[in-house]
Amino acid sequence: MTKAINVAMLGYGFMGKAHSNAYAKLAHFFPELEHRPKLKVLCGRNEVKARAFAETWGYESVETDWRKVIERDDVDLIDIGTPNNTHAEIAIAAAKAGKWVACEKPLAMNSAEAKAMTQAIQEAGVPNLVWYNYRSVPAIALAHQVVQEKRIGRAFHYRATYLQDWTISEEVPQGGATLWRLDQDTAGSGVTGDLLAHSIDTAMWLNGAITDVVACTETFVKERMHQETGQVQPVLIDDACMFLARFSNGSMGTFESTRYARGRKNFNTFELNGADGSLSFNLEDPQYLSFYEHTRQDTQSKVEDHLTGWRKIHVTNFEHPYMDHWWVPGCTIGYEHTFVNTLADFFEAVENGKRPRPDFEDAWQTQKVCDAVLLSAKEQRWVETGVDA
Ligand SMILES: NC(=O)c1ccc[n+]([C@@H]2O[C@H](COP(=O)([O-])OP(=O)(O)OC[C@H]3O[C@@H](n4cnc5c(N)ncnc54)[C@H](O)[C@@H]3O)[C@@H](O)[C@H]2O)c1
Repeated sequence: MTKAINVAMLGYGFMGKAHSNAYAKLAHFFPELEHRPKLKVLCGRNEVKARAFAETWGYESVETDWRKVIERDDVDLIDIGTPNNTHAEIAIAAAKAGKWVACEKPLAMNSAEAKAMTQAIQEAGVPNLVWYNYRSVPAIALAHQVVQEKRIGRAFHYRATYLQDWTISEEVPQGGATLWRLDQDTAGSGVTGDLLAHSIDTAMWLNGAITDVVACTETFVKERMHQETGQVQPVLIDDACMFLARFSNGSMGTFESTRYARGRKNFNTFELNGADGSLSFNLEDPQYLSFYEHTRQDTQSKVEDHLTGWRKIHVTNFEHPYMDHWWVPGCTIGYEHTFVNTLADFFEAVENGKRPRPDFEDAWQTQKVCDAVLLSAKEQRWVETGVDA
């Protein structure tokens, strides 16, 4: 038996599109799920644009005020695809109204907000999800499986980068549509919350809690024209951030993120080095996971010989995470499919009485690391993250 779940999508930008596509595709590729998302309401502040988007994607109705959406009895799930400074108020109100809540990352502007949001969600006891969708890249999910199978052994090093190049020009304004990422009041932080939050979520999922950090940030372009005021104003976000980390399992990490790496567009990479093996991934080559095996897990024998080397695994076989829901082996999936996979995990967990991951609680832990990174950069010292190990 199937069950309709009425979705209200807040925001019709980049994520509005990615999420709408996921709701539309879910039942086609994961037909075993009981829940069938129905595109009920699209909410955006500009009614003309909201209507056009709603028509393109097949939403039944349009609202211009998210409060009205939450009041509606015909809405089950509120999906927050709006800029970071709006997440807390909307998520708390939605939870209090008993709605299911799916929220974009970073969960909040800071960890105090993330805590309040998580508490509201837990008090309401509503199913919740935070869209750390990179966990649902099949190659990253395979990396998680390899770690769970104990094929890496004792972890020593975790190395992450998240590099882009789109703010190098001093002519790029700050604030307003699509450029809100450069405005501290809307974004909370720069690359730390926008890009490193993804790296931190992936790192803690694969390698456990980050306990301590020491960081360095830089803002290369100090002033930019603000689109909304027309004034040249100081840039208060971090353009680049690097930090060292200690994990609760005794390993060390390095994290680097910038929007000033000429030629790098969405260069999200990680490498994990352990006693028995290593893993390496690059989102600009997303179908592949590289694996180096030093010790065979089944026999515990060392496998170093003249044919030892890195294996570049094309993660498209039926045996690989998610891939039995898509095409035949060798046929790849793309960026948009990670959102479908994330949604499938969410409903699968709800239907089987499991905790959906990543949820608000997970995203709050990531927010604690972001806060610690920014504090460390400001005070130039090591900072404990307070992440629950
Ligand atoms: N998971 C990911 O990989 C990923 C990727 C991109 C963005 N994000 C996150 O998604 C969120 C949105 O980012 P985006 O790139 O889609 O931004 P965007 O600028 O493309 O779209 C934001 C949308 O929110 C709308 N909006 C703003 N304030 C609103 C309000 N008060 N009520 C209703 N609508 C409002 C805007 O009009 C726009 O439609 C951010 O939190 C961002 O960090 C996540």
